[in-house]
Amino acid sequence: MTKITFPTDEHHPYADMRAIELAQKITEVFNPDVRIAGSDGIDFYSISSFNKDPNHFKYGGLQREITEWQDTQRAWMDATPNADVYFLIGNHEDRLKRYLWKNPELYGLEVLELENLLDFEGLGIQMADKKGLEVVFHDKLVVKHGNIVRKWSGYTARAELEKETYDISTLSGHTHRGGQVFQKTRHGVVSGVEGFCLCDIEPTYISNPNWQQGLVLATVNDNAVQFELIPFYQKGQRKAAIWRGQEYTA
Ligand SMILES: [Fe+2]
Ligand SMILES: [Fe+2]
Repeated sequence: MTKITFPTDEHHPYADMRAIELAQKITEVFNPDVRIAGSDGIDFYSISSFNKDPNHFKYGGLQREITEWQDTQRAWMDATPNADVYFLIGNHEDRLKRYLWKNPELYGLEVLELENLLDFEGLGIQMADKKGLEVVFHDKLVVKHGNIVRKWSGYTARAELEKETYDISTLSGHTHRGGQVFQKTRHGVVSGVEGFCLCDIEPTYISNPNWQQGLVLATVNDNAVQFELIPFYQKGQRKAAIWRGQEYTA
């Protein structure tokens, strides 16, 4: 049996620290064997190809993005003392590679490789697979950041399942929405899940996006996958969630 926590899409420095703290409180009780890191953990706004707000650089730029993510990883380590940590390269972490491809004179510098720049070794993190794109558990569940975005909650989960030809259950991030769908197949029921987000859901650069904060936990064995989808809600100034008959706040 493998217990997995999937805190996705933190987007430092646009993370919601209260939402992350709430996800950590629940995860600590869950005591997972596996934690997923990356998956748009860092926004890499500083090196994106879009026009940039100069204030971002006044307040620390790329170093701030990385430091805030690393500090949060240390808090995650405390919340998951027994977990192996697998890193998924989201499209935002992929901005580093695209930046280096545009500035090839820096390409190949070891210090600029994602693993070294973010200090995987010091943070006890390993790349999910050789491309950093997915990790499979018990041949029953594939966890990935994903690259499909459909309009409504659950539609992307359906599309990710379809992409896997309904062969395996899927858990993905990227959409900043929660959702779950089921499909009966000739070899049992498979399920597709979208994993919410832990970033600020009222960002200045987009008007009222249909994003939802929350956390997904998964328990997998050789026969089945059990998902727990935990949407967060606002409780005064705090974030809250109900999980296994108890309310948690941060
Ligand atoms: Fe994202
Ligand atoms: Fe993404």
